[in-house]
Amino acid sequence: MKRFPAVLLTVLLALVVLVIVLLRHVSHLEEQLTAIQAKPAEPFHLGLGEVMGYQQRWIDKLGLAANAGNWGAAAFYADELKETADDIIAARVVRENQDIGSLVKSALVPAIDGVTDAVARKSPAIFATRYASLVVACNTCHAGARVPFIHVTTSDAAGARWNQVFAPADVQK
Ligand code: HEC
Repeated sequence: MKRFPAVLLTVLLALVVLVIVLLRHVSHLEEQLTAIQAKPAEPFHLGLGEVMGYQQRWIDKLGLAANAGNWGAAAFYADELKETADDIIAARVVRENQDIGSLVKSALVPAIDGVTDAVARKSPAIFATRYASLVVACNTCHAGARVPFIHVTTSDAAGARWNQVFAPADVQK
């Protein structure tokens, strides 16, 4: 009978130690959680390459929509092109000492405006000419901005996967 309290005491002591260990563990986890919550989420910034990927997407869909006579969709994609160009200008992108933002403003925006006007006039003939000039504006900058190998082309109604020429420049006609 005398042994019982001793066993009980040992069990109690073991429990107290366990609780202390657990509490310390919880407080450590709390500290980690506070640290994670205090850290601000990294803002998501797109690089010029990713933004250009969007330009390629908008110009492609713009061409396909206009060719299909869907002027509403064409106006939408022309607007997306303009918004994305405005984002590049606002971000004042400079790459390899070249002021890409200013080049977009002076060379690309007027070409986009020309296409937007053709879309508003719902004229396939004017659209074709202005769209071709827009593609030239894209490629002229690529040539000057040391990425001449990125050769955008007009959309292919036959459904080519990319509106881009992948053959190296020296074999392009
Ligand atoms: C003012 C110069 C300039 C203009 C105008 C311009 N680009 Fe670019 N583009 C660049 C540069 C510089 C890069 C390389 C970006 C990088 O460093 O990742 C690039 C990269 C690209 C890429 C490669 C990214 C990818 O996803 O494959 C594509 C596609 C592209 N441009 C499409 C276009 C299209 C379409 C237009 C016209 C609507 C256009 N660009 C107009 C300068 C320009």
